[in-house]
Amino acid sequence: MNFEIKRLTEENSFAVAEIEKLCFSSPWSEATVASEIKSSLSDFFGAFCGNELAGYIGGRTVADETEIFNVAVSPKFRRNGIAGKLIEKFIETVRKKETRVIFLEVRTGNLPAISLYEKNGFVFCGIRKNYYTNPTENALLMRLAFDGTQEYEDWDDDE
Ligand SMILES: CC(C)(COP(=O)(O)OP(=O)(O)OC[C@H]1O[C@@H](n2cnc3c(N)ncnc32)[C@H](O)[C@@H]1OP(=O)(O)O)[C@@H](O)C(=O)NCCC(=O)NCCS
Repeated sequence: MNFEIKRLTEENSFAVAEIEKLCFSSPWSEATVASEIKSSLSDFFGAFCGNELAGYIGGRTVADETEIFNVAVSPKFRRNGIAGKLIEKFIETVRKKETRVIFLEVRTGNLPAISLYEKNGFVFCGIRKNYYTNPTENALLMRLAFDGTQEYEDWDDDE
């Protein structure tokens, strides 16, 4: 499948919010998407098949730490390598900002996403109990560090 990765702007907020609705039980509104895309701290990229937004990734870098908010691909476009390319582009971009580490949260049962992140070098580093609602579920915290501490795994899930 042919797709092109491009930086997103506020004009893409509606299309991103449509993908949110298709992919998440508590989707971000168009207004929330727009305000995050506009932020100078944020990096949002979309994968376009022709004029159609097939998937997106967004995150924010504050000082030397980056957080990925979401990666999502419309169901009809999945398993074509789109999320993989989006995450690669995102990592390449924030590395140029000299970020030290990228964090993200993922539902413990979201095996496709966990596999995607592990494939791109993320490791588990913590757990947030009942972090998600609708349905209630723990979050796994994952990180990708560029400062030589990637193998540091001093966490447990007994608390
Ligand atoms: C997770 C998601 C973004 C993957 O998007 P995608 O474009 O289909 O993923 P890709 O085709 O780039 O796959 C990359 C890797 O992800 C993993 N993966 C993707 N879909 C998978 C599935 N259904 N089962 C298992 N692993 C899967 C695999 O490791 C895959 O590598 P492989 O193709 O070599 O096996 C997509 O399923 C999605 O939008 N899910 C709903 C939203 C979501 O949960 N986002 C994450 C929030 S934390």
